[in-house]
Parts: sequence; C-alpha cells; structure tokens
Amino acid sequence: MRKKVTKAIFPVAGLGTRFLPATKSVPKEIMTLVDRPLVQYAIDEARAAGIKEFIFVTSRGKGALEDYFDHSPILEQELRKKGKEDLLEILKDTNMDSGAIAYIRQHKALGLGHAVWCARRLIANEPFAVILPDDVIAAEKPCLQQMVEAYEETGGNMVAAMEVAPEKASSYGVLDVKEDMGSVVSVNGMVEKPKQEDAPSNLAVIGRYILSPSVLRNLNQRKQGTGGEIQLTDAIAEDIAGDVPVYGYRFKGKRFDCGSKAGFLRATVAFALARDELRDDLMEYITEVAQVSRAAE
Ligand code: G1P
Repeated sequence: MRKKVTKAIFPVAGLGTRFLPATKSVPKEIMTLVDRPLVQYAIDEARAAGIKEFIFVTSRGKGALEDYFDHSPILEQELRKKGKEDLLEILKDTNMDSGAIAYIRQHKALGLGHAVWCARRLIANEPFAVILPDDVIAAEKPCLQQMVEAYEETGGNMVAAMEVAPEKASSYGVLDVKEDMGSVVSVNGMVEKPKQEDAPSNLAVIGRYILSPSVLRNLNQRKQGTGGEIQLTDAIAEDIAGDVPVYGYRFKGKRFDCGSKAGFLRATVAFALARDELRDDLMEYITEVAQVSRAAE
C-alpha cells in the first residue's frame, strides 16, 4: 500500500512586494478574493485532498496568518450572543485542531526549495504535498484531490502542469516530457525559468506538488540554481536520476496567478461571479464598463 499523503507545506514567507503598499502590514496570503483570504482557498483545497497536518513556512511580519487560524473568543462570543449562527458557521472553516498546524520560520529568503527544506523535520520520511497559495485554482474537483487520486496510481513525484504560451514559459518551471499519457505525463527533466529558446516544452509547473521525501534529501545539498536561489524544481528533477520518477499532471480547472495584480483581479471577478448573491450586480457593472469602453474605441 502506498503511504497516504497527509501533510502539506505552504510556503508563505515571501514579502509580497508586488502588492505594496498593502503588504507593508498585511501578509499577501491574507489578501482576499471577495471575502476569503488566499490562504483559505489553499487550506480548503488541502482538506479536500485528505491533508491533516498543515505546515506554514513563514517569515517576520506574518503574525496575522497565525491569528487567522486561531479561535477568536471575543468575536465568537459576540456573534453567539446576537444569534448569528451563519457567521459562526463561516468561521468554522478558519479553525484548526490543536496540533494540526505548525509554523516554521524561514530566516533568509533563499528560494522556494529552501522554504520547503525548512519543514524537513516535520515531514520526516513521508510523501507530502506543497501548495503555493498564490496559484488559486477554480475546479469542480479541487486540484490537489485530482492529483492525490492520480498519485495513488503512479507514486513517485507529481507536479501540477498546464500548457502556457511559449513566450510565457520563462516565468515557470518547465517540463521536459518523456511520455505523454494524456492527463499524466512522465518527465525526463525540469528547468526552472528557462529562456524562451531553451524551454523543453510549454508545459509549465503550477504550484501544487506531491513529493517524495527524497526531494528533501536532495535539498540538503542546498545547491543554488536560477537567480542564485535554491530551487524546488532542481531538487525534484534530481530525483529522476536517482530513480524516483517525476510526473506532470494536467489538472482540470482554471488557474489564476494571484501573485500578479492582473491575475488577482481576474480571480476576484471569477470568484465573485460564482457567488449567487453577487453575480447579477457585478455582471450589470461589467456590461456597463464594457459598453463604455467599446463606445470609446
Ligand atoms: C514557482 C516555481 C515555478 C513554478 C511557479 C508556479 O515560481 O519556482 O517552478 O512554475 O512557482 O506558480 P515563482 O512563481 O514563485 O517564481
């Protein structure tokens, strides 16, 4: 029997400079799509995939994240007094059982691989998931759940994958495909942010991973890669030579790059339109704006 994936790492140490001044005092992961912080989407997806232990790799200034997942006795008491059961129900999703969530500090911004490595003692010798909360994926079946199901068949290492325009490949980890089996591809190699002309394909890595603990051992060497950073992509690719296969998984769903302002705004619109109570009002406004801009052309 394959070991179940029950632990997930959430690297959330980044400064979020693209969203300054907001991120001066608000962690990027607490920024909201409609009324739910980015990190709530990540947690919900992890829970749906069967994750029981949540490991946050944080940095200075991320205290709001810890408070977010804690009980808020005064607020809860107040809501209970006023009979606001619906709001109390909404808050339930934000609570974590004692011991289910851990925070580890990444003391220096040395790269995504380094952030994941910081959690090595909590992972020990088990397969684990990594979720990058910047990548928000709207899907009927949550992306990590799709991957866990596929992983039960394949084992090895699995990364979420998506076709991108060739000129965009240089913003991603890119897969060198060995065999394309449809939703699953096996991989010969992976390159972090290649130049357009060096990209082995246009199949890009998106921020969902199921990894073998061997990746953590590869990270022990703390080799610098692209941009002088310790890259997770390189540590996964190293496993191929070491005999742990790597698979890309073409998930079903729409991914939003919430690390960029335009992506964040798109996600805001998409998630708002998915809400019954907001759809009509927002649609009316979007139509109005579209008409005005068409008339101005
Ligand atoms: C990270 C990974 C990259 C991956 C991307 C997905 O890059 O290093 O391989 O394609 O996430 O969002 P970042 O966007 O953090 O620079």
